Amino acid sequence: MQTKYIKYESSDIPEFNEAAKALQQGKLVAFPTETVYGLGADALNSDAVKSIYIAKGRPSDNPLIVHISDIEMLKPLVAKIKPDVVKLVSEYWPGPLTVVLQKSDIVPDVTTGGLDTVAIRMPDHPIALELIRKANIPIAAPSANRSGRPSPTLAEHVAEDLDGRISYIIDGGPCRVGIESTVVDMTGDTATILRPGGITPSMIEKVLGKVELDKSLMDKKNVEIPKSPGMKYRHYSPKADVFVVTGFHEDVANWTKNKIIQDKNMGKKSVVLAAKEHIEQFGLNNAISYGSVKDASEVAANIFSLFRKCDQDGVDKIYVEAISKEGIGLAVMNRIEKAAGGKIIEV
Ligand code: TXA
Ligand code: MG
Repeated sequence: MQTKYIKYESSDIPEFNEAAKALQQGKLVAFPTETVYGLGADALNSDAVKSIYIAKGRPSDNPLIVHISDIEMLKPLVAKIKPDVVKLVSEYWPGPLTVVLQKSDIVPDVTTGGLDTVAIRMPDHPIALELIRKANIPIAAPSANRSGRPSPTLAEHVAEDLDGRISYIIDGGPCRVGIESTVVDMTGDTATILRPGGITPSMIEKVLGKVELDKSLMDKKNVEIPKSPGMKYRHYSPKADVFVVTGFHEDVANWTKNKIIQDKNMGKKSVVLAAKEHIEQFGLNNAISYGSVKDASEVAANIFSLFRKCDQDGVDKIYVEAISKEGIGLAVMNRIEKAAGGKIIEV
């Protein structure tokens, strides 16, 4: 399959209309959102949705997020809409918030991985919103990476993973947030965060008065099966082995410096991703800044792109200096710890 690459200039360009039509015809279109690039298909067309799983190599029990452009599109997709849901989405849609609700009959099982719930979000990106509006159908869209790889924050990342496997890639430049949306289960009495993301727990608490974290997010030693099926897989990973290093920053720097020398002696290429304030302590050659310790959103915007760059540079091992789990730091560390597959070193 030839993948057509569209550089977005305006919604009036003929190629943009062509992509919207392709979605209506059951084809796959990758497009930018404010979080990461999504791989879209008609959420109500089982065959179209199946082709998403095939293109990504994604396990079929991992359900997709359905993207809408207008609140009117929500009603037909769900069994009912509770007042708390209205409150939450009025505050944070369009935005990096996904709500899990009881599904209606029109949503096919393949879209929800066989669950009787459906995940829905309204993205905060003009291209995504315009594309959904033009296609005039709800769009199922996982992150547009091969399964297990870091999510794409540039159109080039999508091409790296999916060129020749999908019909269109719409290039809208870099994604602002850089990590995926917060997934919140709204089917129970209390809102429960299944996947941390751009909307923080305290932002949800502010609106609803109460929010819980899924057990799988709270305690690393607790091996409960996560309710969000996607969270059980090794994920977001570069080819290199990732290690999270936590502790006082000088100890982290010393430990990592020693490790990098040992790795080098064994013929391995290692880098450290660290806060810009600490970079010099790691030695200039192997240390790359992911942003400021004072601004987790900067780290969010950079981390997946840095993982991919390490792969391009043929890096064997990546040591990541941990950041605080405050605010969006919770989501950033969730992705880094997943990429590390549990390899967390406390120094
Ligand atoms: O920011 C985002 O959410 C991006 C952009 C493209 O919108 N999309 C995204 O999709 O990250 P994906 O497929 O990579 O991740 C969807 C997550 C998975 O962890 C999946 O298990 C969870 O949402 N999910 C989807 N439907 C669910 C459901 N019915 N119940 C529980 N979790 C669900
Ligand atoms: Mg994903």
